[in-house]
Amino acid sequence: MTHTEIRDKFLKFFEERGHKIVPSFSLVPENDPSVLFTTAGMQPMIPYLLGEIHPEGKRIANSQKCFRAQDIEEVGDNRHTTFFEMLGNWSFGDYWKKEQLNWIFDFLVNEAKINPQNLYITVFAGNNQIPRDTESVQIWKELFKKVDIEAVDLENAEQEGMRNGRIFYYSDKKNWWSLSGTPEEMAVGQPGGPDSEMFYDFGNTEQHDFEKYGPACHVNCDCGRYLEIGNNVFMEYQKQANGSFKPLPQKNIDFGGGLERITAASQNQSDIFSTDFFETIMEAVKKHVTKPLDGERSLRIISDHLRASVFLISEKLRPSNKDRGYILRRLIRRATMHATLRGGDKYPFMEIFDSIIDTYKDTAYYSEINANREEIEKVLHEEAQRFSSRIREGEEHYLKFGKKISGEEAFLLEQSYGFPIELLKELAKRDGKEIDETRFRKEKEQHQEISRAGAEKKFGGHGLLMDTGELKAGNEEELKKATRLHTATHLLHASLRKVLGPDVHQAGSDITSERLRFDFTFPRKMTPEEIKRVEDMVNEAVQKDYSVTKEELSYEDAIKSGALAFFKLKYPPKVNVYSVGDFSKELCGGPHVSRTREIGKIKITKEEAISAGVRRIRATVE
Ligand code: SER
Repeated sequence: MTHTEIRDKFLKFFEERGHKIVPSFSLVPENDPSVLFTTAGMQPMIPYLLGEIHPEGKRIANSQKCFRAQDIEEVGDNRHTTFFEMLGNWSFGDYWKKEQLNWIFDFLVNEAKINPQNLYITVFAGNNQIPRDTESVQIWKELFKKVDIEAVDLENAEQEGMRNGRIFYYSDKKNWWSLSGTPEEMAVGQPGGPDSEMFYDFGNTEQHDFEKYGPACHVNCDCGRYLEIGNNVFMEYQKQANGSFKPLPQKNIDFGGGLERITAASQNQSDIFSTDFFETIMEAVKKHVTKPLDGERSLRIISDHLRASVFLISEKLRPSNKDRGYILRRLIRRATMHATLRGGDKYPFMEIFDSIIDTYKDTAYYSEINANREEIEKVLHEEAQRFSSRIREGEEHYLKFGKKISGEEAFLLEQSYGFPIELLKELAKRDGKEIDETRFRKEKEQHQEISRAGAEKKFGGHGLLMDTGELKAGNEEELKKATRLHTATHLLHASLRKVLGPDVHQAGSDITSERLRFDFTFPRKMTPEEIKRVEDMVNEAVQKDYSVTKEELSYEDAIKSGALAFFKLKYPPKVNVYSVGDFSKELCGGPHVSRTREIGKIKITKEEAISAGVRRIRATVE
C-alpha cells in the first residue's frame, strides 16, 4: 500500500465515522510568535481542547504538516525526519477511549494492513496525582483477543525487557503528553494527559547495543527495533499554578500518527527512506549526488532537508540569519554540504527539487507545493549556489593546510568563508587530518568577547532585558526559594551574554521552587568550559552581595535607556526595571531578593537543545 493510499484511507475512515476533514494548518504558525513551527497536529487545536467550540463540530480529522527543528541532528538514521505528516483525529468532549482504541486498531489492522502480531502498546502507569490507565488496558486486551492474540500486560520493561508481553506500563516520563513534555515540564494553563502509544516491531534485533541503549531492549528503547507509529492522548487535564492538575471541562481525544512511520509499518520496511514515500526522491538524490560526504547517511540528510525546505518555502519563508529563516538556511546549507557541492560543479539539485515536488503533485491536500514550483526552486537554487561557491573558496584554502590543522586555521576558515567546522571535520576525517578543536573554540570565544565589548559600548554598558518567565510556588517557603531562583535567573542571563556574546537573548523562562529553567538563543552546544565560566560568574556576582533595586519607568524611558525589549510582547505603559548592582538590568515583574548573597550557590545541572538555535539551561541553588 502506498503512502498516498494510507493518507486517503485514514481521512475516509474517520469521515465515515462522523469527522469533518479539515486542511492542514500552516507549518509556520499564524498569530503565534511564541513557537517557531507547527510540531504536532494538536498544536492548532489547543483552543478547542480547552473548550472553545470548533465551527466544524466535535469530531475533526486531518493530515498535518509538521516540522521538528530539534531533530535536525538525528536525521541520517532509518527513522528520523525533520518534516513529517501527522495523521490526526480529535474528539472535543465527544467520544472517549473505547471508540478511539477500537477505531484506531481497526484502521491499522484492516485498512493500513499492519500485522497485529507486530503491534505493541504502552499505557500510563499512574503517578501520585493521576491514576493508572487500567481502562485502556482492558480495551486493548479485548481488541487483541479478536485477532487471537492474548495480550499480557507487564511492568518494568526498561529493566526486564519484553518477556512475551504485549502491553507495557510506563511512567509519566513516557506515557504522558503535552506540548512541553512531562507533567513537571508543563506550563500553567496547558492541557495534557495520559496517553497510550502504539509501536511496530521490525524484528531487527541486532541493533541493540547494550552499552548505548541499556540492559534490555523494550518498546520505548532507542535502538530502532520498535517504532512508535501512533499516539492516543487522553487530553483531560490542565496544569494549575500550584503544580496540581484539574480536569478540563471536557474529555478530549487527541490522536496523532506519523504518516511516514505508518507507511513503513504497513510496508514492513524498517527504513522509512526505502518506503514508496522517498522512492523517487532517493532515486534522484542517488543519481545526482555522486560523492556524498558520509555515504547513505548523507543521502538521507539531503532528501529530508530539501523536502522540509520545499514545504517551508511554499509557505513564503525565506532563508535569512534569524529565527525561522535561519533554520531554513541551515537546512539548505547542510544539504549542500552533504552533497559536497562546490560552486562550479555541474549543478545537480534541480532534479531533486522536482522529484520532491512530484511526490506531492497529485495530492490535492498540498496543492501549495505544485502551485509554487518555480518560486520554490528558485529560492532553493540561489541559496544552495551561494553557499557552494563560498565553500569552494574555503576548500581551496583547506587544501593548503597540512596534516595538522591549527585552531587559528580552522577559525579563519569559518570566519572568512563561512566554512562550517562540521564540514571541516568531515573533510579532515576523509583525508586523515587532525584539527585542534580546543584551540578553535578558544579562538572563537576570544572573537566573541571582542564583539561583545563593542556591543556593550554601544549600549552604554547595560543590557536592559525582559523577563517573560513565570514563578510557580505553593506556599511561603516555596515562594522564597523560587524568588532566589528568579534573581539567579537574571544573573544567569547577564552572565550568558557576557560569556557567549550579545546575540544571546531570552527565549523563555520557567521557575519552580526546585529549579530554574532558562531558554536562550545560541546556535550550538555550550562547551563544558563555557558552562563552568557562566556558573562561576553567577556565583561571583552572588558573593559580591549586590543590592537589587527596582525603579518604575515609562516603557519609552526604559527603552530609551538602551533597553533590549522582547518585541513580540505587549508591555504596559509603566514597567518595572530591576537592577542587580551594575551586573544586570531587566524589565521584570519581580519578585526578587534584596541582596544577592541571599541566593546561595547556584549549580547548572543541564544544558541542552530545545530546537535549532535555542538552548535550555537548568540550574538549582543550595
Ligand atoms: N499530540 C500527540 C502527539 O503529537 C498526538 O497527536 O504525539
